[in-house]
Amino acid sequence: MAVKLSRSQLPLLLQKLRPLFPDNIKICGELKCKLENRSQKLCGFDFLVDTWPNFSTVISRPDNTNNRLKFIDNHHSVLTQDREKLREILENSDVIKWTSPIVQFADVREDLYDVISEAADSHGFHAKLSFTYLAMFVDSEMASMPVPEGLVMRPLSEDHAEIVMNNVDYSGEGSVEYCKELIKHYQSLAMFDENNNLVAYTLETNHGVSGMARVMPNYRHKHIGLVLLSQFDKLLVEEGRRMGGWVNVENNSMRRLMRKLGCTEYPQKHIWIDCFKK
Ligand SMILES: CC(C)(COP(=O)(O)OP(=O)(O)OC[C@H]1O[C@@H](n2cnc3c(N)ncnc32)[C@H](O)[C@@H]1OP(=O)(O)O)[C@@H](O)C(=O)NCCC(=O)NCCS
Repeated sequence: MAVKLSRSQLPLLLQKLRPLFPDNIKICGELKCKLENRSQKLCGFDFLVDTWPNFSTVISRPDNTNNRLKFIDNHHSVLTQDREKLREILENSDVIKWTSPIVQFADVREDLYDVISEAADSHGFHAKLSFTYLAMFVDSEMASMPVPEGLVMRPLSEDHAEIVMNNVDYSGEGSVEYCKELIKHYQSLAMFDENNNLVAYTLETNHGVSGMARVMPNYRHKHIGLVLLSQFDKLLVEEGRRMGGWVNVENNSMRRLMRKLGCTEYPQKHIWIDCFKK
């Protein structure tokens, strides 16, 4: 049995989830997207708990509206302090949209893989672990570094969405439209050379993180990444947020860059699971 929360209950859910960082990142990002009325195309998720107002397990799943972007249409996330409760909910109830040909669980704790894959199996799905990430966030004062001479900084425009999504390891159907919506409704920051060529960029997402950071190959190892992300943090601090997000465990360049920025690397790994209909 799971309880679907009404919109008026969501601010309290957000408040109660705060201490559960970094496990709460994706669900809190989706909650904020909804509560801040960011974008109708990004915030179409229901939030369910095992019991209310005290709960051990929270699930976000696509709601019944049809205006959600294709790229996030099968996104679920789970957060639990009771694995057996989660197992019971996933196996015995209809909280997950097992009617779709693919069901994705994004940014969940690695130690929940067996619970999710067993639930997927019992509903006729095969679970595939796609990515493993670590949460890395700036959590202390950071001096923003000056922009090198000859480069200018400004936000991305929607025209850049294709370049951005061509360079991430999780792009797919509808990813460019998704990125355009992020650029329209969230913060982004990019650097351009004197001929207006893109040199580096990063942006915020509806999952409560900044990400997709990239420095063009001919500009790497010149501390452009450090400058960009320190400037992005400054921008976010003005709005009460901090720079940080998920870094692939194998991405040593990015992990070192984030450490250099003074980010804390949280030890618990998180994963992305794609479940395919057998
Ligand atoms: C990761 C990336 C953004 C780094 O950008 P960059 O401008 O080259 O990084 P910087 O020059 O600012 O380097 C900052 C620090 O990061 C570390 N670093 C950066 N690239 C590194 C590499 N290839 N190997 C080891 N360390 C590296 C170094 O410690 C460096 O500091 P130092 O030169 O004083 O030792 C860039 O390599 C990139 O775009 N990679 C592909 C996209 C990507 O993986 N994005 C991350 C998505 S989450």
